Amino acid sequence: MPTDPVEAKEKTVDGAARLLGRCKRLLVLTGAGMSADAGVPTFRGSDGLWNNHKMEELASLDGFQRNAELVWEWYYERRLHVATCDPHPGQRTLALLQQHFPRPGRVLMATTNEDDLLERAGVHPVLHLHGSLFDTMCSAHCGWRVRDHQDNSMSMIPCPRCGARVRPGSVWYGEQLPREPLHAIAEFDPDGCLLVGSSCLVQPAAEIPPEMAMDGLPVVEINPDETPFSSIASVSLRGTAKDILPGLVDLLTSHTVRGQRTKSATDPVPP
Ligand code: OAD
Repeated sequence: MPTDPVEAKEKTVDGAARLLGRCKRLLVLTGAGMSADAGVPTFRGSDGLWNNHKMEELASLDGFQRNAELVWEWYYERRLHVATCDPHPGQRTLALLQQHFPRPGRVLMATTNEDDLLERAGVHPVLHLHGSLFDTMCSAHCGWRVRDHQDNSMSMIPCPRCGARVRPGSVWYGEQLPREPLHAIAEFDPDGCLLVGSSCLVQPAAEIPPEMAMDGLPVVEINPDETPFSSIASVSLRGTAKDILPGLVDLLTSHTVRGQRTKSATDPVPP
């Protein structure tokens, strides 16, 4: 008898919730696909930025040294575009997961995404493995860095600390990831992972889910397309972040949220 696709999907989301619901320390790792439903383009995939742009020109130190104006123009356009986008329900629901699952402090949010939509959705803190689209920093790595939300006005000044040229604060190809977020993940020592909207191609972040899966830990993937990780994932949910996350988070937090509602309903009214 053919399987009803709706029923099959519900069963899978349910199965994913049962697997992740047992975790004591859940790592949520999101990629560029997390913001696709908010209107921010991904890098790979059918409408990905790398189909029409050259990553070696726009996201590498060599490219910046060859044509800094072109790189800054591209970052400026992306900053402006992200500022016009609003977080979608999947992103907002991750804030609930962080606050409630099954107790606060049990979820660590990390992302290779450079935008600020998770923060604007109420997720805090967010570990940015690839830096922030809104950071401007010294290209000579003297340590000077600012959050430059407004415009690109900082881009044309020399570094106030050492005089070198300033550049976008993203992690580019061939560069090391900042150590702090990787240390924070290692220290958190996750026993399960929810992976959303990642092509699983950009190292070293892409190593984290397969390493966890090899250790026998549950890893659930959400992605409309198959990825190199899909066959290893404990559950691979085919769909978008906006469609799948609200239901999954509802299942994961329902006991906690319901418990809190019941408790507050019976709490004595303060005099
Ligand atoms: P990618 O752009 O490589 O991959 C995005 C993934 O999101 C793909 O697997 C898509 O299938 C998936 N996707 C698309 N729409 C989705 C949706 N609505 N819901 C869920 N998933 C969706 O992004 P990352 O793997 O995060 O690096 O890689 C990010 C890095 O690649 C960036 O930091 C950038 C780029 O090259 C640099 O610039 C150095």
